[in-house]
Amino acid sequence: MKTDPTSPAPIEALTIEEAAAELERLAAEIAHHDRRYHQEDAPEISDAAYDQLRRRNDAIEARFPELVREDSPSRRVGAAPGQGFRKVRHSRPMLSLDNAFSDADVIAFFTSVRQFLRKDEPFRSQPDAPIAVVAEPKIDGLSATLRYEGGRFVLGATRGDGEVGEDVTANLRTLRDVPQQLADPAPAVLEIRGEVYMTRADFFALNQRRMAAEEPIFANPRNGAAGSLRQLDPTITAERPLRFFAYAWGETSEEIADTHSGALERMRGWGFQVNPETRRCASIEEALELHRSLAGRRADLGYDIDGVVYKVDSLAFQARLGFVTRAPRWAIAHKFPAEQAQTRLNAITIQVGRTGALTPVAELEPVTVGGVVVSRATLHNEDEIQRKDVRVGDQVVLQRAGDVIPQIVSVVLDRRPPDAEPFRFPDICPACGSHAVREPGEVVRRCTGGLICPAQAVERLRHFVSRNAFDIDGLGEKHIAAFRADGLIHGPADIFRLAEDPAPLVGREGWKETSIANLQRAVRARRQVPLDRFIYALGIRQVGEATARLLARNYETLDAFRSAMVAAADEAGEAFHDLDSISGIGASVARDIVQFFAEPHNQQVVDDLLAAGVTVTAVAAPRQVASPIAGKTVVITGELERMTRREAKARAEALGAKVAESVSKKTDLVVVGASPGSKATKARELGVRTLDEAEWLALIGDA
Ligand code: IVH
Repeated sequence: MKTDPTSPAPIEALTIEEAAAELERLAAEIAHHDRRYHQEDAPEISDAAYDQLRRRNDAIEARFPELVREDSPSRRVGAAPGQGFRKVRHSRPMLSLDNAFSDADVIAFFTSVRQFLRKDEPFRSQPDAPIAVVAEPKIDGLSATLRYEGGRFVLGATRGDGEVGEDVTANLRTLRDVPQQLADPAPAVLEIRGEVYMTRADFFALNQRRMAAEEPIFANPRNGAAGSLRQLDPTITAERPLRFFAYAWGETSEEIADTHSGALERMRGWGFQVNPETRRCASIEEALELHRSLAGRRADLGYDIDGVVYKVDSLAFQARLGFVTRAPRWAIAHKFPAEQAQTRLNAITIQVGRTGALTPVAELEPVTVGGVVVSRATLHNEDEIQRKDVRVGDQVVLQRAGDVIPQIVSVVLDRRPPDAEPFRFPDICPACGSHAVREPGEVVRRCTGGLICPAQAVERLRHFVSRNAFDIDGLGEKHIAAFRADGLIHGPADIFRLAEDPAPLVGREGWKETSIANLQRAVRARRQVPLDRFIYALGIRQVGEATARLLARNYETLDAFRSAMVAAADEAGEAFHDLDSISGIGASVARDIVQFFAEPHNQQVVDDLLAAGVTVTAVAAPRQVASPIAGKTVVITGELERMTRREAKARAEALGAKVAESVSKKTDLVVVGASPGSKATKARELGVRTLDEAEWLALIGDA
């Protein structure tokens, strides 16, 4: 598995297609590291590098919410629980936070909160009324949940994957900051959540002791805290200086407060440590001021913090704002700025992707940036190289921000070698020698070799067998490239043929009877594949996992999907309209799908797969929610009184409805607000049921 933190582009420059490919790669890579860390106890990368991967994943998802994968690491929140501890299902999931990296991100967060709540007082009458938030240091430890029944501590667990954690009650009992019995009267059931951490002084002392005892030392306090909490023998934990700050809660048998600040006050009363730097801020300015102040005093705090968390103070607003996938809409983590380092750019290499995109990669003299050794960085595209005038031999400034991938911020011109030449981006594909061209308006240069380009072919096959496509184990890049070079496989169907008739593998170097049998087993196990994986595996431009799932749910069978895509070649026709009106599929994506099926060789790939014995099954219907709109296709149009369209959409989806952007015969319901446009007219023309806002609220049980 590749752990080198290198990849295509800064997030703002990613195309949807690149983003989807990268999310796929990140999901596989993060799952791999989770396994290494938790199941195999043999991490390959530092915690910081791991966090970077997750942050990049989150950042891409934030920009392309439609691409969030079913198996996204962000849906798992933390790592899957390891062996050894009893597993505990959390009464309420333990969520994560979205990140902000600049004041502008924070302002955008406040704006989006206000937008969401704009039908509520005071925002209705005062669109830019201040929003009170609580700002808390973001403690760099690991989160835990503590359950109290009748005021007594009965269960403590790690976050695990956010849904299921590990029962570490005995270990948490050894922490001074975890009260066994609550001081003030408390609800019958009360779950307090917060961060287990270690102070820097305690961490250094612990490492001293470990060094003296010739035990391996911990890389940082967070590692020390995690390693100490996850001890099977609680007497070891008892010797470790762990602490706990309370900042959130899970299940409670009664409401504990009206505001977050009120809840923290009650936590203090019950005997918990609440971080003393916590402040209620009446405005954005106050919140940003606290961030600046903490950033300056960071080193003096005695424990590691990596940012400031802002939480909307009103719990009524929090309830309205709710959650997206895994993070609350009412909170955000404002991270501290990136760490930088300087190093030499040794070379610029060009990678060719599945769709022929040429991506320049900086090959660097290895250097540590914020605890991670970096030897490669993305240069994004040719414009970027030109804009920064990056030359081989230059000293460059690297930065790790919230991104996983280090970026080249600038070139140190004073240190440029006199003979350094401007970089000339190739106009020939380095893999196949075909012309590489840039379409007008595109930033990406692409190889025109198509089917003859070995790099593209290998990348396509790799994509085909990848974990979220056909998930064929044991067929790595090296094998694919070698099989292809030797003419054993040309297209995806050949993988199935080769498994049925492995004669060409017999006697090949590295292929023994068992490895052939393993490959056969792996391939046979994937003969049957759900439609969404099948669509995703085809590698259609811009069709990531999320889009493939949308398509599969809408068309249900491969036959229906294929014939609809062929029919959709006519952009004025109904088939194209149906495709285009699936919420989450825009015109540009729709065109790429249609174009794919318009190519005879692509149709041939599908036919070949079916001929090779692949069967495609209908996808399981989405989790059924018992609601009057579950499974219905809903369109929302016009201005609503009580909620914004965005909130209405979120509510409809939470109740199991599909929300579409335009009205067709397949629409079940159109919710019509004030001053509706053509969608309402269209609904009446087609005889689709329309609801006014009051009827809508009554239907979803919110009247
Ligand atoms: S609130 C529903 N507050 O950061 C929101 N989290 O990136 C739950 N963290 O999993 C989290 N300090 O481990 C919250 N003051 C704070 C925090 C904090 C540290 C950690 C926590 C969480 C992660 C999210």
